[in-house]
Amino acid sequence: MSEKARKDYTKGPSCLKGIGLTRSFGIGDKKMFAVDHVDFDFHEGEFVSIVGESGSGKTTLSKMLLGLLNPTEGEILFQNKPRDISSHAKKREYWKSMQAIFQDPFASYNVFHKIDSVLLDCINMRGGQNLSKQEKFDMMTEACSFVNLKFAELTNKYPFELSGGQMQRLMIARIFLLKPKILLADEPTSMVDACSRATILDMLLQLRDEVGMTIIFITHDIGLAYYISDTVYIMEHGKFVEYGKADEVILNPKAAYTKRLISDVPKIHEEWDLSTVELTSEL
Ligand SMILES: Nc1ncnc2c1ncn2[C@@H]1O[C@H](COP(=O)(O)OP(=O)(O)OP(=O)(O)O)[C@@H](O)[C@H]1O
Ligand SMILES: [Mg+2]
Repeated sequence: MSEKARKDYTKGPSCLKGIGLTRSFGIGDKKMFAVDHVDFDFHEGEFVSIVGESGSGKTTLSKMLLGLLNPTEGEILFQNKPRDISSHAKKREYWKSMQAIFQDPFASYNVFHKIDSVLLDCINMRGGQNLSKQEKFDMMTEACSFVNLKFAELTNKYPFELSGGQMQRLMIARIFLLKPKILLADEPTSMVDACSRATILDMLLQLRDEVGMTIIFITHDIGLAYYISDTVYIMEHGKFVEYGKADEVILNPKAAYTKRLISDVPKIHEEWDLSTVELTSEL
């Protein structure tokens, strides 16, 4: 790891803060809390993982952070001020600061837009409309080479002509051009193989170091969270049962739920540990 990567991002200025943030669904007897009075403080440049099992409320929380779903209670502060997305114009302004990558990259694109226009849109969104053709070309080439894609091979192609791993890298090239303050990534690596997963995670870390963006990484995988994050928040039934620096929480877990998530990790590998398989004479 570089010197830069060792910087303590957990002490930077607050970027996104939640106070008693809550989202319930249903009414009366059927009322349930998908996100139940959570408090958090994500700092500039911090790599935060939110870890929890299916149904724990991760996506509901992400949608509230993105401004796609209204909280039923509580407050979100963006850069220490109450987040205001009450008008369409204010929402657009907020979305310039916050971008998302989702599990299925194919769902995030308009499949009828060629890759060049996907990237050009990003340059325009950042106010680059008046740049020369050559400057725009250079920016797109740089963004592609950051994610090990060759822009020349992508021009005139449609997103569906790429593999899942290439698509996910194209998503990261977009982020490279957009340089948002916050990136929210909801299980971005679950559709790709282990090798692409490591590459994608390394690219995200590099982006964080270069651009200083806060990354909110949503995952089921506590092992992955340990490997990549500064801070982890452990989510169970809509609540944060534990949070703190990744190594402190994972090497010294306090909550029973965290302990269980950790104890599930080696089991996955044990199933594949072929050295324990007895070879019989029939073979
Ligand atoms: N629109 C909705 N209407 C009613 N219930 C909902 C709605 N959205 C989510 N829920 C419920 O809220 C709870 C949390 O769901 P959520 O999608 O946030 O979980 P998750 O942690 O993202 O799960 P996964 O890991 O499977 O993606 C679930 O019980 C779900 O059924
Ligand atoms: Mg989800």
